[in-house]
Amino acid sequence: MIHKEAQKRIGILTEHINQHAFQYYLLDNPTISDAEYDRLMNELIDLEQRYPQLKRADSPTQRVGGGLLDHFEPINHPTPMLSLQNAFTKQDLIEFDERIHRMTGFTGDLEYMAEPKLDGVALELIYNEDVLEAAATRGDGLVGENITANARTIRSVPLKLNLEKFTYLPKTFAVRGEVIIRKKDFEVLNQKQIQTGEKPFANPRNAAAGSLRQLDSRITAQRPLFAFVYAVCAEIEGITTQKQLLNLLAELGFQTNPHAKLCVGVEELWDAYTRLQQIRFDLPYELDGMVVKVNHLDVQKNLGEISRSPRWAIAVKFPAHQETTVIRDILIQVGRTGAVTPVAVLDPVRIGGVEVSRATLHNQDEIDRKDIRVADTVFVQRAGDVIPEIVSVVVAKRPANSKPFRLPDSCPICHGAIHRIPGEAAHRCTNINCPAQIKGRIRHFASRAAMDIDGLGEKLISQLVDKKLVTGMADLYKLDRYTLINLERMAEKSADNLFEALHRSKSPSLERFIFSLGIRHVGEQVAKLLVETFPSLDELVQSEQDQLEKIPGIGPQVAASIQSFFRDKKNLDELKRLGDIGVFASMTSHPKPLSSARPLDGKKVVITGTLNRMDRSQAKRIIQKLGGITVSSISKNTDILVVGDNPGSKLDKAHKLSINILTESDFLSLWENNK
Ligand code: IVH
Repeated sequence: MIHKEAQKRIGILTEHINQHAFQYYLLDNPTISDAEYDRLMNELIDLEQRYPQLKRADSPTQRVGGGLLDHFEPINHPTPMLSLQNAFTKQDLIEFDERIHRMTGFTGDLEYMAEPKLDGVALELIYNEDVLEAAATRGDGLVGENITANARTIRSVPLKLNLEKFTYLPKTFAVRGEVIIRKKDFEVLNQKQIQTGEKPFANPRNAAAGSLRQLDSRITAQRPLFAFVYAVCAEIEGITTQKQLLNLLAELGFQTNPHAKLCVGVEELWDAYTRLQQIRFDLPYELDGMVVKVNHLDVQKNLGEISRSPRWAIAVKFPAHQETTVIRDILIQVGRTGAVTPVAVLDPVRIGGVEVSRATLHNQDEIDRKDIRVADTVFVQRAGDVIPEIVSVVVAKRPANSKPFRLPDSCPICHGAIHRIPGEAAHRCTNINCPAQIKGRIRHFASRAAMDIDGLGEKLISQLVDKKLVTGMADLYKLDRYTLINLERMAEKSADNLFEALHRSKSPSLERFIFSLGIRHVGEQVAKLLVETFPSLDELVQSEQDQLEKIPGIGPQVAASIQSFFRDKKNLDELKRLGDIGVFASMTSHPKPLSSARPLDGKKVVITGTLNRMDRSQAKRIIQKLGGITVSSISKNTDILVVGDNPGSKLDKAHKLSINILTESDFLSLWENNK
């Protein structure tokens, strides 16, 4: 290949792979298969080896990590990386605001940005021209460690900035932010650590810190790191506020946090803090407070700093989300797949404003790892998930007669055998007629995102199963009014409503029906993928493992689970029984949307202007995934307008009709938080 051709091909490959990586890692929407991706990547690696001088600054080959270091070089920060003073109460915040008024002489309410305080590791990124040149940890605030190779592996760190519109940026400048690991990714990472015999990390922050400080960047590349940025160490023409700065960063290609909010005065700040506290456990990553920053950059500059902290910012910390309490008992729950989950019954304790009296212990391995026993005093937290967890045992307070806890050999509900399937962490009750499993399956079948049978709640399901009135899904539709009215707490009106709901649920969409069946590993997303390939239930039932595995997003484990479900005579009999009584009798796909709460459910969305970080078809796909419907023209029925550059008349019309407006970065953030 001649030099010129190589240059052209390297350009095409670089752009193609980068575009795909953006789709895959940031939009969760792959456009090519993994095999195709690997092929393109290998071709690029090969060409770059042959023509090293042609390697581009934004080459995706840097994302996979490279050589091994024996230590990190020191690197001077262009300006010190400061820390923040802490506040804990509204009074602390009032005093901070008063101090700023006093020092600046301003009267009236001041503008502040309220930003989530991300519980991660500080990162500095230095760009020269538009290329990521170096990256550093905080270190002692003046000198950090050079972790450039590691930072390059983080997909949300742009290797090259999107500078098209910003000719007035300084040649070199530093951007600062926080590297985090999302709660879900943390769980998966820790499982992997355990499986490979490594020590699990204590929390996502430790995992992020450890991953960022790997001497072998190939290891960092395999860690699910994510970077949000919030500061620039340079004055930028035309940027006068922190809010504008965050918008600029997003347009340059960085990820900024969607929950940053402009507030005027202390009351609005306190409202924002209360709101963050409410949503923190629902967010995909951990926060430890809210950072308040004076919005105007010239005011920040005048206020300056004192003892390594800026006077213009403060961290309002959340109250501790760990408490100690005592385990009174360990109960065993049996789920719809037979999975046995040990649950600790606790002396009730308030954590972050919520009373906690139970905590999941996950499985026997987790109990062994933490050596959790009945009567232990333990630290409990509400962190990684809404479900509280035991962090550790206070061994010094353990009673002398305590014994290690072991899961029972037989199911406490049906007395069937409990086994651990090799390769799985969970123990399972092996009796598929176990009432606990039946209840779980019916609960799932009736749930909102499944058949949506209103009025068929947990207590009623329990009664129906315990009285042996229901042993499978089809039995629900055979219940008669007399039987129902004679159940405890069942008024005539409720029975009528339940009948009505059962009747309404009889013709679900195919994807909803597949999801309802409770096939292991088949959630709403997989059900949707299946329907795209198999438009009828018959075709799905007949499908072969290799056909299933060919579907992007479906791996061998999921395919095997689907196969074994439809090869099982009991399941096929149940499908037949359902069909016979008119549930999903047609066995064809009915295009009816799933009704799990998605942020744009049923909303009509119009896109206008030029989008910089995605094309129209990607934007439409995202809208669809968020539950919305893309429409082309604006009317009073439009719910949302997504605005790119040069929006034209649609924006004016949207303003007149008071339609909600999302910028491109708002829109991406919405996706980021809901994908
Ligand atoms: S501003 C001088 N904004 O909190 C300004 N920091 O305790 C300092 N942090 O070292 C940074 N989220 O690592 C800022 N939205 C945010 C933040 C944030 C988390 C971390 C950061 C900093 C530490 C200060």
